[in-house]
Amino acid sequence: MSFRYIGSKARVVETIMDRIGLPNSGTFIDAFSGTGAVAEAASRAGWKVHVNDHLSSSAIMSFARLVSKTDVLFSKLGGYASAVEVLNSLEPQRGFIWREYSPASSQHCSVSRMYFTEGNAQKIDAIRGQIREWRSREDISQSEERVLIADLMRAANRVANTAGTYGCFLSRWQRQSLDDLVIEPAPLRKSAPRASMSAVDVAAVPCSPEDTVYLDPPYTKRQYAAYYHILETIALGDEPEVDGVCGIRPWREKASDFCYKTRAAKAIEMLIHALPARRIFLSYSTEGHVPITLLGDALSNLGAVKLHRLQNIGRYRPNRAASEAASDVGEVLFYIEKTAQRSDVAA
Ligand SMILES: C[S@@+](CC[C@H](N)C(=O)[O-])C[C@H]1O[C@@H](n2cnc3c(N)ncnc32)[C@H](O)[C@@H]1O
Repeated sequence: MSFRYIGSKARVVETIMDRIGLPNSGTFIDAFSGTGAVAEAASRAGWKVHVNDHLSSSAIMSFARLVSKTDVLFSKLGGYASAVEVLNSLEPQRGFIWREYSPASSQHCSVSRMYFTEGNAQKIDAIRGQIREWRSREDISQSEERVLIADLMRAANRVANTAGTYGCFLSRWQRQSLDDLVIEPAPLRKSAPRASMSAVDVAAVPCSPEDTVYLDPPYTKRQYAAYYHILETIALGDEPEVDGVCGIRPWREKASDFCYKTRAAKAIEMLIHALPARRIFLSYSTEGHVPITLLGDALSNLGAVKLHRLQNIGRYRPNRAASEAASDVGEVLFYIEKTAQRSDVAA
């Protein structure tokens, strides 16, 4: 999946998997799954995988990478290709995305929100509506619905008039945003290990002692719920009250503790302390809120800790000028083999 996502581990995923190792009897839990890059690699390595992200858009995007052709036959619609063909030939519809996130917004507020052309916004509305209808008539299963929603989010991303995130739109149409939105079927595997998904706060992720948990929390102040708000609206298919120039949906209930410099260290420590799993991997960045040495010291109260320095990865940057101006970010991976019991560490 070519999708620029803040903090994506796509470029270091193989090194991460080398450290995580071969599957065992437990489940691999990617608790902050984002795009699902690490979850997919684990699934390909043979792990049963559970993905979680507090954004439904990210959890769905991740889950869709774990299913195989046999999990999503689309039998009531004549197969996956036929379902996609129907979606691509729908009549455009003037719905919520058209009203709020295309220049049509200027008809009811003072801003012309140029996230999508009017034509593409109407296609998104029509396709999302059809997926909803298929699901409500039980023409598609929950996994099939998730695959189609992920396909729609990828298609919307390809034509979004943004610099990579949905924090704001660009004031001039970019070339790719004038292309017609087209759903492209995902390349599904022939078979895959069992997969499951939740979209809850990380503190509520189901987990047991024999599971292996991978944690990749945010490490900067950028709140994903605000930066990816339109993908979240497409995933949920709802119509929230939005306002302001960028029309951001209410996101504060999803504000993440890991994005606040003053809360991040405690939040990581408390999370790892509370997880019942014995094997925990934690990705973090040398540019993150919490200094690596301080993090290492805190984690060593919870168990045996190993620190692996991964290769430098390019930081997410909106354009080439920013890329040239910035230095690379150092990625580290902690391995924590827990020994401490819940009661050993004060809250
Ligand atoms: C660094 S990104 C993960 C990137 C992912 N490993 C990848 O390769 O694409 C962090 C993710 O954590 C999610 N997140 C932030 N706070 C969370 C919380 N409290 N509970 C669950 N997910 C959270 C964000 O929505 C975001 O997708």
